[in-house]
Amino acid sequence: MKISIIGTGYVGLVTGVCLASKGHEVICIDKKQEVVDKINNMDSPIYEQGLEELMIKGITAGNLVATTDLESSVVNSEISIIAVGTPIDNDEIDLSYIKKAAQDIGEILRDKNHYHVVCVKSTVIPTTTDTLVKDILEGASGKKIGEIGLAMNPEFLREGKAVEDFMYPDRIVIGAYDHRSFEAMKHVYDGFFHAPIIHVNLRTAEMIKYTANALLATLISFSNEIASICEKTKNIDITEVLESVTLDKRFNPRIDNKLVNPEMNNYLRAGCGFGGSCFPKDVKALISYSQDIGYQPRIIDATIKVNNEQPIKIINRLQESLQTLKDKKIALLGLAFKPDTDDIRESPSITIINRLLEKGALVYGVDPIAVENMKKNIPEDRKSMFYSTDYKSALTDADAAILVTSWSEFIDIPPEDFSQLMKRPILLDGRRGLNKRALEDAGVVYIGIGLA
Ligand code: UDX
Repeated sequence: MKISIIGTGYVGLVTGVCLASKGHEVICIDKKQEVVDKINNMDSPIYEQGLEELMIKGITAGNLVATTDLESSVVNSEISIIAVGTPIDNDEIDLSYIKKAAQDIGEILRDKNHYHVVCVKSTVIPTTTDTLVKDILEGASGKKIGEIGLAMNPEFLREGKAVEDFMYPDRIVIGAYDHRSFEAMKHVYDGFFHAPIIHVNLRTAEMIKYTANALLATLISFSNEIASICEKTKNIDITEVLESVTLDKRFNPRIDNKLVNPEMNNYLRAGCGFGGSCFPKDVKALISYSQDIGYQPRIIDATIKVNNEQPIKIINRLQESLQTLKDKKIALLGLAFKPDTDDIRESPSITIINRLLEKGALVYGVDPIAVENMKKNIPEDRKSMFYSTDYKSALTDADAAILVTSWSEFIDIPPEDFSQLMKRPILLDGRRGLNKRALEDAGVVYIGIGLA
């Protein structure tokens, strides 16, 4: 099929590259000329495991190209997939890019006779596609939806694993206005044999995406709440509790009594809290939508509150063991919101850094790839903030270290490095990824989230 993808951010580009790899003819559209040039020069504008290799294959094979020219792309394709950003503004979702894309596509489709499906992939609050997008498209094109196809097809991509998640989805959700739109969208996924295709209406598709993220975020906050209870009780370790609980068949299906996905058992971990571009934004948008339509949510509201408290709890625990944080050198292991990404959006490290600096500490932030992004976030006049990509310089003479991101580089630090390099080997494991016993054997004072 001939497919236009509007927006070449992390969702749009991954979608375009992966669909091209399945044999579709894909045109990626972005208004930024430099992004378009990068793609056409086979240089990926974002870092995502496996993306660049697949992008190069698509461009070389001639079925992937980028352009700033929306009109010729829409005219020459059967489907337009909208994958523009939906940032959050004052806890409410900003739909201006979606509106602009719908308006532009609608105007292009005016006076054109070919059947074209417009598909929203961006995360949008329920009813956006079948009211706002529909109205804009109809107004701009002078046609009724039906003559133009309309679909909503959410993504479930984890940063760092986006290509893998796209190629091997758990399910493909297609919200469709009518049967014809659904059939067209189904062909987009012809090459994805193993994933169930879920056919729903437009607003249900939108709700599925929010519910999936709100559920996962709530499970994390739930784990963090249980961790807080464990911290108040001697000799209960949250890690043992969660490892056992997640072995329940309902989390972790089995075939022939063997776990289908042993990795799943690593998913639910207590720690500094969730960050990133999806969970905080989507749960807040769902809360706001719910309030707007007259329901005050309680559980997902608590999900955000618990999450906001996690970084503060880290500071409090550190203060308990150091008495004062003033002039103390603190090594912060990890700045990214999770390993294998340079993304620091909503990372718990931001709150931790700001609190430590307020309390007069000297903060040494270490991260393999996220340092430059953090520098843009923390004002340069913060003279007590230092950065490094090398953990050893941060640990040298430190009064304490905090594991904020479970990069394998940090998980593999030899316990002796903590005891020999640090002034006081106090280590706060904010991800419960480190080996407590080995560290204690090496003389490190180990403090773990969810452990008294
Ligand atoms: C998430 C969803 O997983 C994905 O399906 C959706 O489409 C987008 O949002 P992502 O934000 O990339 O993906 O990361 P994920 O791996 O889910 O982690 C999110 C945050 O939760 C991270 O900050 C992570 O550190 C934290 N987390 C995750 C925990 O604190 N404990 C856990 O057990 C798992």
